[in-house]
Amino acid sequence: MTGSTLYSIRMRAGRQGRHVSGAERICARASLHKLADQLIDRALGSGLSPDQVVVTIEPLDPDRVVFLPSLDLTAVACRDVAACRAAAMTMLARSGVSRTAALDAVRLLENGPSSSGGVMRGAMIMDRTTGERLEHDRERGVRASHFDWSDDAAAPAAAALASLGLTHFRTREALALATKVVRGPGVVAELCWSDNADYPAGYVASSACGYVRLPHLKTVGSPNGGRAIFVERQGFDLDALVRYLEEQPVLLSAAGACRAADSVEELSAATRTDANV
Ligand code: COA
Ligand code: AMP
Repeated sequence: MTGSTLYSIRMRAGRQGRHVSGAERICARASLHKLADQLIDRALGSGLSPDQVVVTIEPLDPDRVVFLPSLDLTAVACRDVAACRAAAMTMLARSGVSRTAALDAVRLLENGPSSSGGVMRGAMIMDRTTGERLEHDRERGVRASHFDWSDDAAAPAAAALASLGLTHFRTREALALATKVVRGPGVVAELCWSDNADYPAGYVASSACGYVRLPHLKTVGSPNGGRAIFVERQGFDLDALVRYLEEQPVLLSAAGACRAADSVEELSAATRTDANV
């Protein structure tokens, strides 16, 4: 993909003023029509009958695109919400997030992190030590955007994820988003679970642990969820992080390793080994 102009193509769909679906890609001009079709199909096929679909296409300066290798992914077979949350706490601690901050984030995602008590339109930014919230707007939060898999990495990443049975586009997109997020200035870790009531899986991501997928971070039927991005305050520049997350084009240049773990103990041993390399 290097050398010629690239485009950011983004889709968002809403119904009665509520966001129901969104996705984005980065591609060469020759792929724009095909990807626009795919994104429109995705919006209209969501089963949520959007009354508005917005597709935005913007050229990117190729010299501004940053290439990052994907985080490695570990899928942990924790059986229930309690086990998954315990695993998340372990991984957050290993990534440098205090127990206070991690518990605050879990409580907020459980109950609805926006100032009005519902889901936010983006992520919280939290001090990794105190749990203090730093995002300017507690309804909106901050959204990572302008990222995608490169042409070279997309197929190997999809194959590696499929080897673990992870064939849904959601995992590929969440792994790309998390890779961009954890490489952001000042970021130490991210915790996420979806606000989709039918989708209980989520993850902890960090440079220390990679992307740790946990299948039951919430109870099926819960409409709450969100993202917490934990940051180190020393030398931290919130505006620089927001600019990076929202505007910096990032392409994932290489797929990471994907593996399964049966338990927190196995996962802890694996990440301890990686952290020592
Ligand atoms: N939730 C709720 N509202 C959203 C939203 C979301 N996830 N994304 C967009 N909107 C709505 C908001 O009203 C927003 O206004 P705001 O900035 O005041 O919140 C408005 O749409 C415009 O948003 P903007 O980000 O400017 O739209 P965009 O068309 O440039 O990009 C997305 C939209 C959805 C593609 C982008 O925000 C995004 O989330 N990209 C990442 C998608 C992805 O891969 N996610 C992984 C999920 S596992
Ligand atoms: P989703 O994974 O799409 O179910 O989103 C889960 C939660 O993450 C949402 O409720 C938002 O709070 C937040 N979110 C959605 N999109 C983004 C984004 N692009 N960047 C950061 N946070 C987001």
